[in-house]
Amino acid sequence: MKNIKDGSARLFSWDKTCKSPEETAAFAKDLASRLKKGDCICLEGPMGAGKTTFTQALAQGLEIQDYVTSPTFTLVREYQGRLPLYHFDLFRLEDMDELDFLGFDDYFYGEGVSVIEWPKDFYPVLPPNPLRIEIEVVDEKSRIFHLIQEGEDLVMEREEDENIRN
Ligand SMILES: Nc1ncnc2c1ncn2[C@@H]1O[C@H](COP(=O)(O)OP(=O)(O)OP(=O)(O)O)[C@@H](O)[C@H]1O
Ligand SMILES: [Mg+2]
Repeated sequence: MKNIKDGSARLFSWDKTCKSPEETAAFAKDLASRLKKGDCICLEGPMGAGKTTFTQALAQGLEIQDYVTSPTFTLVREYQGRLPLYHFDLFRLEDMDELDFLGFDDYFYGEGVSVIEWPKDFYPVLPPNPLRIEIEVVDEKSRIFHLIQEGEDLVMEREEDENIRN
């Protein structure tokens, strides 16, 4: 874990290797236990990297009973759990204004957490200081998750289960 303190701007960067879908699921569940209202996670990486697989386990960690599927055609799906989950897939979205127009701020600044597959270059209209996770495909079963987040309230600095106890 690397945590660089540089004046007022803080930067967290961390790499996690998951050698199977099961390890990815355990990692996503650990991360879920640190989440709180208003958090935003952006998942980057090529097709088949594991963005939806990761989100499904994160949803289980948030005690969501429904099966999470990729919202490619609907752009966003909402699930109820310990916290609501807003699962976005912006693969098909072409224009930043469209996101604005659809009123997505109601999700971003709502009661739950947002997970965004394919954030592409939409960062200017997404919540500030998201936890960015770039998934690198190593081989058929192995992935490296590159995490990076700036700001004051860093998800990975919170204690595991901290937000479940509160
Ligand atoms: N360590 C791993 N972590 C996550 N997924 C893995 C891992 N190893 C193999 N896989 C497999 O990789 C595939 C990932 O597919 P998934 O739909 O999650 O990708 P995606 O990034 O959401 O793709 P898309 O961009 O098309 O939405 C699944 O079949 C999963 O079982
Ligand atoms: Mg997907």
